[in-house]
Amino acid sequence: MNVHGTVSPPGDKSITHRALMVASLVRGTSVVRGALTAADARSTAACLRALGVGVGALRPGTAVAIEGGAWRAPGRTLDCGNAGTTARLLLGLLAARPFDVRVTGDASLRRRPMRRVTIPLGHMGADVREERGDGLPLRIRGGRLGPLDWTLPVATAQVKGALLLAGLAGGVAVTVREPVRSRDHTERMLRALGVPLTQRGTVAALAAVPGWLAECPPLDWTVAGDISSAAFLVAAALLAEAGELRITGVGLNPTRTGFLGVLARMGAKVDREELRDQGGEPVGDLIVRPSPLRGTEVTAAEIPSLIDEIPVLAVLASRAEGETVFRDVGELRVKESDRLGLLAENLRAVGGSAEVSGDNLRVIGADHPPRGRVHTAGDHRLALAFAVLDRLPGARVELSEHASMGVSYPGFLKDLDRVTGHAG
Ligand code: S3P
Repeated sequence: MNVHGTVSPPGDKSITHRALMVASLVRGTSVVRGALTAADARSTAACLRALGVGVGALRPGTAVAIEGGAWRAPGRTLDCGNAGTTARLLLGLLAARPFDVRVTGDASLRRRPMRRVTIPLGHMGADVREERGDGLPLRIRGGRLGPLDWTLPVATAQVKGALLLAGLAGGVAVTVREPVRSRDHTERMLRALGVPLTQRGTVAALAAVPGWLAECPPLDWTVAGDISSAAFLVAAALLAEAGELRITGVGLNPTRTGFLGVLARMGAKVDREELRDQGGEPVGDLIVRPSPLRGTEVTAAEIPSLIDEIPVLAVLASRAEGETVFRDVGELRVKESDRLGLLAENLRAVGGSAEVSGDNLRVIGADHPPRGRVHTAGDHRLALAFAVLDRLPGARVELSEHASMGVSYPGFLKDLDRVTGHAG
């Protein structure tokens, strides 16, 4: 496989959810450019529409208009599809609304923990009723909220974001303390909009701003390219035999670039160019050249900054010389699938060597062609990561399904064909 040319990843999933939600709170017509138009973003748009917010169609290459301000009780259950971020951030916003709302998701999302967000929202004053224990479906009735000072046992931007958005929508102070700083898109967006919010180390503190929503002018927001989607293109270029790939307009927020640091230790040649600022978020191009890789240790402190890149890093580790250990990756068990177990099983299914011990994942590299059938359990990042392996010379990696790629990167196989000159 050779690699060449230029490619832009889809809009950042995390920033898209936040831009659509924050725009839905302010009065007037906001515009969001470069938004992700994939299934997860469509889940957020559909939930907001059900709440009375005018959200235009999400189409690639087209700015989306959001008519925010007035929310009404939805006449139906809100379906967050496969999107954990939709569910958790929306629960934060619903905590400040005097409606009784039922929230659900697809089979994968219904299995994911929600108490990490509903318990602190309950402390703020929201009334939450679970239907089946810790997960969806559940009902939330919001209203007047009190302030919150909350310490998270695990770093999670979805919960941190939900609590900060609850504080914003409810006009109350919220402080969130994390063991390690997770992605800080909510904080950067709110600060760029003039909201009094401080970030000191791993503590984010929003001041009470009861009048802010009424005063904030509509947003004109440009979403960076998704580094987590770009990561699959980076992997393809590193595993190629020759050439060079430029990936343009990628969000390079340091709370998301952990995998680039790990790849540098593994010997990867990845340069950053055209660095600029976009709405308080660093953005740039990645230039990737094929590189022989060696194993490394990924520390627990690095995990939050590369949480979504572990599937693709594990796939790369399976082609590296020596052993790679990912420490303290238990959170992967509660992602779109049990990513930890499935990663190890699927690497073994294609002839690789990988094992889980406790909360650690160990992968030993090899250079024989990967061959076998991979069970993605409908998890987009597993499908995307193993699709890259299938492009190696002599490989025959059969995926149980391809449709899940539509959750975050519907055009991935087309982009991959184009930059690798694959006949398709
Ligand atoms: C996200 C945060 C991460 C990440 C997810 C998106 C976000 O989840 O895995 O894909 O947009 O806040 P956690 O914060 O739960 O780790």
